[in-house]
Amino acid sequence: MKILVTGGCGYIGSHTVVELLENDCEVVIIDDLSNSDKIVLNHIQKITGKMPIFYEGDMKNFDLLRKIFQEHTFDAVIHFAGYKAVGESVQKPLMYYENNLESTIHLCEVMNEFHCKKLVFSSSATVYGSPEKLPIKEDAKLSTTNPYGTTKLMIEHILRDLVVSDSNWSIALLRYFNPIGAHTSGLLGENPKGIPNNLMPYIIKVATKELPQLNVFGNDYDTKDGTGVRDYIHVVDLAHGHLCAVNKIINSTGIDAYNLGTGKGYSVLELVSTFERVNNIKIPYEICPRRSGDIAECYADPSYAKEKLNWEATKNLEEMCRDSYNYVSNINNK
Ligand code: NAD
Ligand code: UFG
Repeated sequence: MKILVTGGCGYIGSHTVVELLENDCEVVIIDDLSNSDKIVLNHIQKITGKMPIFYEGDMKNFDLLRKIFQEHTFDAVIHFAGYKAVGESVQKPLMYYENNLESTIHLCEVMNEFHCKKLVFSSSATVYGSPEKLPIKEDAKLSTTNPYGTTKLMIEHILRDLVVSDSNWSIALLRYFNPIGAHTSGLLGENPKGIPNNLMPYIIKVATKELPQLNVFGNDYDTKDGTGVRDYIHVVDLAHGHLCAVNKIINSTGIDAYNLGTGKGYSVLELVSTFERVNNIKIPYEICPRRSGDIAECYADPSYAKEKLNWEATKNLEEMCRDSYNYVSNINNK
């Protein structure tokens, strides 16, 4: 199979490219490197022995997209490209709506033109808003609390309308829970610039002494220890979910949403203590007020993905904590 991976130099995209190459797919990447680095391509080659074809450019550039489809015939597209920072989306909503929506609409128009109608889309558990029932099933009520989340939900609606208009389309909406971890080689992972928003990247910066302590946002939630509970999923498990989704859409039509999570919820303090134990490092922390917009608990019912995609997460929290730190130790030692 030949697959176009948009945003393939990013955190989840790069791990998915490895998964695809290791399973004999041909891969073409388009990425504007707005949140990634070209060096990732060399690391992908080191791991797999194969170099994906790479186009550097913006998904909003229609001509570039058309050129890529003129030069290649794809069996399917996996669409990761987009902006993802919740806080930034509140500050710069137009930038988020423009980038995430326009990229997706242009992509679908070009896919239509070139008769490639198999698409896997990166959605998010953020479309469940503040969940009424746990674990969260795919048919739960959908709502959003920030512009980033709204772009994901709007794109889900757009893609559903597309399938109604043309039943040849086959689309998988993958709703990721909280991806952490890194490739076991230590060559791919996540290390955001500046002060991170998300928990694991922040813990890492404390572990490497770039930040003095972790601020734990609230210990008065109605959870096991009062801190927020999330469904952390290893990025390598997530990457495998994309291969399963491609295999599913290749032989079917229609549109469906799938939760990609482990089904287990861990609190902030559980994540901190697991990280400390497996990496033998102390993470100093302070309990701070709640972060506005946060929910108490969020974890998936992943049984639909198991039933329909034949996928389930295999890696545990220890592996996630070990691999996340291993990646950063590896790049910092270079
Ligand atoms: P990432 O920022 O590491 O990767 C996204 C990639 O897309 C980057 O390499 C970036 O340079 C590229 N990109 C952005 N806009 C582009 C454009 N207009 N044209 C070309 N390339 C562009 O993010 P990630 O964590 O790998 O996330 C991938 C996808 O999964 C995103 O759509 C994100 O919203 C979604 N998602 C991520 C999480 C998470 O916690 N990481 C959770 C749920 C959903
Ligand atoms: N937290 C802290 N301190 C920090 C950062 C986070 O205590 O410095 C806590 C949060 O309060 C929350 C938990 O750690 O209880 C996880 O927070 P993250 O920011 O890592 O993740 P969220 O669940 O808030 O959101 C993330 C992405 C969203 C995505 C969602 C589900 O930022 O875009 O996961 O995939 F939608």
